[in-house]
Amino acid sequence: MSMAAHVQPLANRPATRTPAWDALASHYKKVSKLHLRQLFGDDPKRGERMAVEAAGLYLDYSKNRIIDQTLRLLLQLAEESGLQARIDAMFGGEKINITEKRAVLHVALRAPRGASILVDGKDVVPEVHSVLDKMANFSDRVRSGAWKGHTGKRIRNVVNIGIGGSDLGPVMAYEALKHYSERDMSFRFVSNIDGTDFAEAVRDLDPSETLFVVSSKTFTTLETMTNAHTARAWSLAGLGGDASSVAKHFVAVATNAAEVAKFGIDTANMFEFWDWVGGRYSMDSAIGLSTMVAIGPDNFRSMLDGFHQMDEHFRTTPFEVNLPVLMGLLSVWYNDFFGAQTVAVLPYEQYLKRFPAYLQQLTMESNGKHITLDGEIVAHDTGPIYWGEPGTNGQHSFYQLIHQGTRLIPCDFIAFAQPLNPVGRHHDMLLANVFAQTEALAFGKTPEQVKAEGTPDWLVPHRVFEGNRPSNTILAERLTPDTLGKLVALYEHSVFTQGVLWNIDSFDQWGVELGKVLAQRIIPELENNLEPALNHDSSTNSLIRRYRKHKESL
Ligand code: F6P
Repeated sequence: MSMAAHVQPLANRPATRTPAWDALASHYKKVSKLHLRQLFGDDPKRGERMAVEAAGLYLDYSKNRIIDQTLRLLLQLAEESGLQARIDAMFGGEKINITEKRAVLHVALRAPRGASILVDGKDVVPEVHSVLDKMANFSDRVRSGAWKGHTGKRIRNVVNIGIGGSDLGPVMAYEALKHYSERDMSFRFVSNIDGTDFAEAVRDLDPSETLFVVSSKTFTTLETMTNAHTARAWSLAGLGGDASSVAKHFVAVATNAAEVAKFGIDTANMFEFWDWVGGRYSMDSAIGLSTMVAIGPDNFRSMLDGFHQMDEHFRTTPFEVNLPVLMGLLSVWYNDFFGAQTVAVLPYEQYLKRFPAYLQQLTMESNGKHITLDGEIVAHDTGPIYWGEPGTNGQHSFYQLIHQGTRLIPCDFIAFAQPLNPVGRHHDMLLANVFAQTEALAFGKTPEQVKAEGTPDWLVPHRVFEGNRPSNTILAERLTPDTLGKLVALYEHSVFTQGVLWNIDSFDQWGVELGKVLAQRIIPELENNLEPALNHDSSTNSLIRRYRKHKESL
């Protein structure tokens, strides 16, 4: 394979293989010239027509550069890609993660008690609920003070130690649902192997009131295990070195009981999940233990119910009114036909400040692939780069580029009708900004309009907004645990839809392996007291030597 085979421009790719891809490619030539001003002018009801409401989420997709025929062709692409069969295979527990030979059943984590989902002939729903019950019992005891630390004091601080899916979901959900959290307790999250993360998280904590939740699917991840050992030493040092204190101050969330026991955590204090839950799809498994302690079991269950409602919508609703399918199709439209490289996610809700970071793992670890399920190089660009910040802050930094730069950046705006903290006129002003931004992006401002304002000719081009910049708007009533579940499931299934259209495995992550292996090789080269023989390339060798020299001079 030539090095850049998969990063070639679309024109140089292998021929597209299905009629819908080809039809969309020629359709694009026609539609790309249309302006949203004209589309709205021709169809005054477009903004009402191109909107769907499901499970309490309202999606306005009218400000996208599509016409009815675009949608028809995108829906045809979904049909040709066998999307419904793939949805059924996922919900049916088939091993659709083919490179790891695993079922992909995050949907089972939120299946109601009494439902039945089989993996290798075994119903997994009863186990899911038995772990949820164990988590609820534990959370209630910690929250009520019945669970005591080693010295008899109640737990006031919970520190989740994990990374990737074992961190981003818990921290995002905690921040998103802080409004519903136990305010007499503090919740912290340690992920980075940079010692600063741990040091800052515990600097003002009392070990006798601190509980660590060590969260790791494999329980072997370098960062998490290193932080967990450091936490153990910190806790023991603060509790008189009595090893029996570990049982009161450490619990584990993992799929790997042997590794948990090896670490020294009693497996009675382990909350289990399963290999059919991908790390980035695990925030509603036992990985959500810190979330449950923060918001309480009832709120956690309500979040699961929200997930489930969106799952059912995705599984059973015709594609033309199916929110995750529509969002997935639109993402493919911009990614593969307009050549858009990114998607901006812009929540106008301060509590969702970690949502874009959470989505980065969900979307990019899932769809950052260039090999198809058949082992060939993809014919189309895959996974766009997801990024974003809450509004209105982003408006005062990067929106300039979205409005007037040379790149097309489709945006998802997310907003809620009711504020969780009603303060004066703030919420109306916040929402006015959401609507204003999508309007400005779509319709812009013509040279004639700019001139009519008395702008001197030389300044006119600078002040013109060409518009025609697409966006989705997702509006919900209020940010509740249930709404958060729906929102996350919406993106999970949109990612799945995109992966199906590209015919890739959205559930493995081999791309993270090489760096991990090389780091293991380099660690002893940095720690060795004697000058090690280095066999890397000349750049890596010199960086290592320079680091060793400066480290020694400290
Ligand atoms: O390195 C990537 C990754 O495997 C993610 O997929 C995962 O969420 C993260 O590391 C953490 O893995 P674990 O939960 O096993 O510690």
